[in-house]
Amino acid sequence: MRRPVIAGNWKMHMELDEVTNYASRFGKAISDVKDRDIIICPPFIYLRTLIEALQGTPVSIGAQMMYWEDKGAYTGEISGPMLRSIGVEYVIIGHSERRQFFGETDATVNRRVKAALRNHINPILCVGETLKQREASETFEVIDRQLTQGLEGLELKPTESIIVAYEPVWAIGTGKTATPGIAQEVHERIRNVLSSILGAKASGEIRVLYGGSVKPDNIDELMRQKDIDGALVGGASLDPDSFERIVRYKE
Ligand code: PGA
Repeated sequence: MRRPVIAGNWKMHMELDEVTNYASRFGKAISDVKDRDIIICPPFIYLRTLIEALQGTPVSIGAQMMYWEDKGAYTGEISGPMLRSIGVEYVIIGHSERRQFFGETDATVNRRVKAALRNHINPILCVGETLKQREASETFEVIDRQLTQGLEGLELKPTESIIVAYEPVWAIGTGKTATPGIAQEVHERIRNVLSSILGAKASGEIRVLYGGSVKPDNIDELMRQKDIDGALVGGASLDPDSFERIVRYKE
C-alpha cells in the first residue's frame, strides 16, 4: 500500500501574520493525523517560519522550486543544500506555472530533479497537458515526454523516492476538476510509463498525486481511484479549514 500524501501549494500567497496564524490553527487541527503525509509548500521566505511553527506536528515542509547548482554566482536563486540545511524535505519541480511563465523545460526539470535527490530532498515532479493538447488528443504523448525527459538518466537508490503530480493545466485554478475517471486514466498511464523508465518495483512505490481545483467537495471521490495516491492542492490549501477537510478525506 502506498501511503497517501496531501500537499498544499501556496504559490505566491500569504503575508507573514497570515502564515503564523495559519500555522497555529492548522498545526493543532491536524495533530492527530497519522496515516497520511501532509506537506505545505509556502514561498521561500516562510519556509523556516513554518518549519519552526509546525515542529512536532505531522506536517512536513516543501519548497516550490530550487536551482540545480549547489552554490555559486546565481543571484536570486536558492539551492538544494540551503533548503536541506533548514529542514526542507520536499520540493515541487516543473509546476506548469514555472513552465508557462518562467521558461521551465523538460531539460531544466531533469537537472532540478537530480539536484533535489542529490541533496536528499524528495522531488514532486509536476506533469500535465494544456487544454489545446487535450483537445488535440495529445495528452498521453505530452505526459510520456514530460516523464521520459524529466527523469532521463535517473536511477533511484533504494533510499530515494520521488512523487509525481498529474496536474492538467486546464484544471488549475479554473474550478474545472478532471473527472475522477479522466484523472484515473492518466494516472494509470503515468504508472505504466514510470514502470518502463524506472522499473516495476519503483513504479509501484511512487505516489502519484492529482492536482487541479481539488476542493473539500471533490477530494473523497478522487481518492477512491485506484492510482490516485493523494492531491496537490493550490487555492483550497490557503484556508486552514478547507485544507484540513481535504487532509481528512473519506474513502
Ligand atoms: P489549484 O492549483 O488547486 O488552485 O487548481 C493546483 C496547483 O497548481 O498545484
